[in-house]
Amino acid sequence: MCGIVGYIGNKKAVPVLVNGLHCLEYRGYDSAGIAVLENNKIVVKKDKGRVANLDNMPGINDLEASIGIAHTRWATHGKPSMENSHPHMDNSNQFAVVHNGIIENYNELRAFLTEKGYHFLSQTDTEVIPNLIHYHYTKGVDCEDTFLGAIHAAVNDLKGSYALEVISNLFPDRVVVVRKDSPLVLGKGKEENYVASDIPAVLAYTKDFYLLEDNEYAVVYQDHVQFYDSNLVEHVKEVKVIEWDATAAEKNGYEDFMLKEIHEQPMAIRETIKNRLNLGEKCLFKDLAITKEYLQSLNKIYIVACGTAMHAGLVGKDAIEKLCKIPVEVDIASEFRYRDPIIDEKTLCIYISQSGETADTLAALKLAKRKGAKTLAVTNVIGSSITREADYTVYTYAGPEIAVASTKAYTSQVVLLTVLAVYFAELLGSYEEAKLEELKTEISGLPAKLETVLEEEKTLKDIAEKIYTEHDMYFLGRGSDYHVAMEGSLKVKEISYIHSEAYASGELKHGTIALIENGITVIGVLTNPELTPKSISNIQEVVSRGAKTLVVTNQDLANVSFDYVVRIPETNSLISPILSVVPLQLLAYYISKTKGLDVDKPRNLAKSVTVE
Ligand code: G6P
Repeated sequence: MCGIVGYIGNKKAVPVLVNGLHCLEYRGYDSAGIAVLENNKIVVKKDKGRVANLDNMPGINDLEASIGIAHTRWATHGKPSMENSHPHMDNSNQFAVVHNGIIENYNELRAFLTEKGYHFLSQTDTEVIPNLIHYHYTKGVDCEDTFLGAIHAAVNDLKGSYALEVISNLFPDRVVVVRKDSPLVLGKGKEENYVASDIPAVLAYTKDFYLLEDNEYAVVYQDHVQFYDSNLVEHVKEVKVIEWDATAAEKNGYEDFMLKEIHEQPMAIRETIKNRLNLGEKCLFKDLAITKEYLQSLNKIYIVACGTAMHAGLVGKDAIEKLCKIPVEVDIASEFRYRDPIIDEKTLCIYISQSGETADTLAALKLAKRKGAKTLAVTNVIGSSITREADYTVYTYAGPEIAVASTKAYTSQVVLLTVLAVYFAELLGSYEEAKLEELKTEISGLPAKLETVLEEEKTLKDIAEKIYTEHDMYFLGRGSDYHVAMEGSLKVKEISYIHSEAYASGELKHGTIALIENGITVIGVLTNPELTPKSISNIQEVVSRGAKTLVVTNQDLANVSFDYVVRIPETNSLISPILSVVPLQLLAYYISKTKGLDVDKPRNLAKSVTVE
């Protein structure tokens, strides 16, 4: 939900700002803008639409400024328009602000400022901030650094979430930043410093980062940074070296990030299980201080997440329940946080979030902590907000995921949850050792089997080209195949804008079958031999009503005829989702491509949802 970049240093700011915004476009792409200090004046260039509009905006490349802030927007308050684009300025044009988050009390603040004579040019919540800063600045603040003091006073008036960057022509040597419930990192260079919503946005320039905490302020100068807590008491902060490869966030010859990320799944799984799963040995999670006694004391595990991460949780539930014999409930974070769930110290709450920044997931985690449960975060982003809130963190090592539709993060989450379930089962002694070893062998074999599934790409492309004009699709499965059906259906919705629904195969006949008519496409996932005959019967029911069928299976279905069959390798049914989801990802990808849509940046979506 909105991406921000900042720069102060010894080179031209505009290319750094615009490049950074291109990397952050996954966070929103309704409008984009920059503000720089040129000849001691704030110059703003902004418009609705994609970041690419900035590339050659008249005059932008002539700007010599070496200090500036930038923003790519996912609209919340006010439709995408030039006026509503960030940066926003105060009425005196002395303070420019970019903001990621939502100011909940902006109506009151707007009324207050209007009464004081301020006027507003946009419908945004953000525009109150530069004016509040101006208000406090002119009123006078009790702080040696009057710029920081005015920002601090303004921030104290705000309710909601924010990552803010502020520049002023009155203080041309610094960028002031602060965050609460929205991410912000600082990149440390030589004679230059960077600000960004996430690490990859400036990873091309530095590997040294400061990860800003909630309610922490930073005054960023060209050659140093000063950090302050919420009472403006200064403190020293450690640099964290990030060992990511900058090219990991580039397309490397693929047409889209999504396709690249689909193909990176074997590697992502290898990295995620590395050092944790070794055949013939017990699983190992080095930094996870969970004991057998603690696991024995549990009477319930919750898995809480949003979107694709929640679908991964559904698969993880099956593994934990089967191997550890602990009941697991999976919930959507936005529901969980408001339904007063029954949680106490005998509950372990696992939160899955690729970004580690999803607002509802973070709020759901804080709730469980308040109720006395231990919390475990599963995330892909090092140092993300969730890692700082949770009692324990285990990382997926999928590498940066840029496409809005999640692929490699999902399969890495599923594999990680399965290895975690094996680890818990080994501690508890709750499952037969030989069978656990068999499962571990199957998990180790996943990357190679995934390569085989990826060879079906051309088949899926051909099928996509035949069905891309559909208006409705139905995905069916039983058990974990149903959970994969849910994920496949979400992928199709997200990037190809086709209405699709997922049903537990046996449930279809209780209503939804009324919608099946001649020519409609039904996609079945059939990987569990015990459930296959039942699922085949359900698919036959739709075939008799005229549906076209695509089946993804690891079984030999020679005696049954479907319109399309995609064969995948066999594996343990607990981890078959890691293989069976891939054809569905490819199908969604190629439907979207054939329709000529922007696969990586689907309409109305954002990758990181940092608002409720
Ligand atoms: C957004 C994205 C989804 C993602 C969900 C949860 O809705 O579009 O792809 O699954 O957020 O994100 P998280 O970062 O918490 O996994």
